[in-house]
Amino acid sequence: MISTIILFILFIVVVSTTLWLFLVSFSLWQSSNQKTFYVSTPKHIAQKMLETLDAQKGRNLIDLGAGDGSILRLSAQKHETTSVGYEITMWPYLSSILKNYLFKKNNPQLKNLVQMHYSPALDADVSEADYIFLYTSPEFNQKLAYKLKRELPTYSRIVSLTFPLPDWTAEEEITIGDYTYWLYLKAHNESERSL
Ligand SMILES: C[S@@+](CC[C@H](N)C(=O)[O-])C[C@H]1O[C@@H](n2cnc3c(N)ncnc32)[C@H](O)[C@@H]1O
Repeated sequence: MISTIILFILFIVVVSTTLWLFLVSFSLWQSSNQKTFYVSTPKHIAQKMLETLDAQKGRNLIDLGAGDGSILRLSAQKHETTSVGYEITMWPYLSSILKNYLFKKNNPQLKNLVQMHYSPALDADVSEADYIFLYTSPEFNQKLAYKLKRELPTYSRIVSLTFPLPDWTAEEEITIGDYTYWLYLKAHNESERSL
């Protein structure tokens, strides 16, 4: 009987370790292909960025490359925005599912505000986005810059951490310790484009 229990425990340990190793290696492989790795924005910087966006209750925030969805939960909790994230790396996406589940359980009044998609950011519907949150890479920002110019409504505001948006003129550049981010207004860049 004892040997059966030991065998069963060993089986569970081996299966879960194999699954974990597979998920981590698969996610590392995905990240190296994308050249944008999963790193979370520190909470105090994210809070400042949401203040810079002037995030307001009932408005829509989209995080393009949302990682574990921490920005979505923070924005929903502090500003009551509708918060949608797009992520294509398996590990942070699965982590977002678990964290969103716990968040919704602990904050039932906010449960409809947070949503994650396992889907490429370039396919995101941003046509009604009030706020865009970015922390990606120079290569990916280049692609997003074009998409956002074409698809965002005029009232949208964007913050981008560490990497500026090519071909966009920043409204503000803000540095806090080792971190720099930029604020962009679609309206400002649209009027520039039509000059
Ligand atoms: C630096 S992390 C930022 C995570 C989160 N936004 C934050 O600030 O804490 C960038 C994320 O973008 C994701 N990513 C990269 N390319 C993507 C794409 N084409 N579509 C969706 N997500 C992507 C990566 O997997 C990574 O998790």
